[in-house]
Amino acid sequence: MDGKAQDSSRGLPRRAVPPAMGLLLSMALMNALLYLCLDWFFIAPPHSTPGSTHCPHGHFRMGQMKNCSPWLSCEELRTEVRQLKRVGEGAVKRVFLSEWKERKVALSRLSRLEMKEDFLHGLEMLKGLQSKHVVTLLGFCEDDNTILTEYHPLGSLSSLEATLNLSKYQNVNTWQHRLQLAMDYVSIINYLHHSPLGTRVMCDSNDLPKTLSQYLLTSNFSLVVNDLDALPLVNHSSGTLVKCGHRELHGDFVAPEQLWPYGEDTPFDDDLMPSYDEKIDIWKIPDVSSFLLGHVEGSDMVRFHLFDIHKACKSQTPAERPTAQDILDTYKKVLNLLRDTMVSQTREML
Ligand SMILES: Nc1ncnc2c1ncn2[C@@H]1O[C@H](COP(=O)(O)OP(=O)(O)O)[C@@H](O)[C@H]1O
Ligand SMILES: [Mg+2]
Repeated sequence: MDGKAQDSSRGLPRRAVPPAMGLLLSMALMNALLYLCLDWFFIAPPHSTPGSTHCPHGHFRMGQMKNCSPWLSCEELRTEVRQLKRVGEGAVKRVFLSEWKERKVALSRLSRLEMKEDFLHGLEMLKGLQSKHVVTLLGFCEDDNTILTEYHPLGSLSSLEATLNLSKYQNVNTWQHRLQLAMDYVSIINYLHHSPLGTRVMCDSNDLPKTLSQYLLTSNFSLVVNDLDALPLVNHSSGTLVKCGHRELHGDFVAPEQLWPYGEDTPFDDDLMPSYDEKIDIWKIPDVSSFLLGHVEGSDMVRFHLFDIHKACKSQTPAERPTAQDILDTYKKVLNLLRDTMVSQTREML
């Protein structure tokens, strides 16, 4: 009796299900699970929002800091910041990896006194544009010509390719992550065009390497703009337009309206050079985005889907170019479309 009861409580004896059948069943179960979870697999993890960095004006928070701290003063910069090694240099600043309260920070020093005006303009912009799109300002000292910002160990976009080629970053060297970087970049341009300080033009970008050096790659693979030393103001209602510097520009990275329009026989004269608006930033977007997309599996497929919007960015007539918001909307649509296609193709294979 006992034996019978035991048998029925155990159900079918194990040998009744052949091992091959068990294997098949578990594979079918795995497939079903995979099918249901595909959406999750194909959606790149969102960039974690940088520690909800919203602090009142004049304050900052970075990394694991719980509270907002006031921007560091001259005194604090002089006594609490230890300069370690040089990590970068441009026309205006020399940048040093430094230490403040056991945290890594970036100390920028004015490199040449004649660039002081640009340095101070950059500082004003940093103060007024603090947001998720802009490097976090930690302090400054106008008397010493120093600015302290959050340090980003992955450096500027100039070293993106070298960074993504490291084996530890292979998992992010995908068309999805690279398109996400392009979306970050266009979001930054969009922010500058609708900033709390009005419509700002990213002038420090006369060629691709220069442009890339102004943006930093954060440790969670998003972008922030770092160098705001040349952000002139456009005001369409008052007819205020801009010129990026006073010298003649060449090449096809810059927008056509930035080139000397009166032919080689007429020498360049800055007073005769017409001014222009924020649409020069739109002209440059296809080149920067194409660099960001790189040459990984799927990059060309993304480029193909962005062909029309990028063609519109290259319109000779500035007013006919799309806005940064239009471009961002298109990028988002393409990202979603390609994700959906990949999900359904993989489902068909299962
Ligand atoms: N916060 C930072 N973290 C890491 N690297 C930085 C940081 N700030 C600047 N750099 C490095 O220094 C370079 C020059 O900085 P930038 O502000 O563009 O100087 P400049 O105004 O002279 O062009 C950048 O391209 C980047 O490589
Ligand atoms: Mg720079």
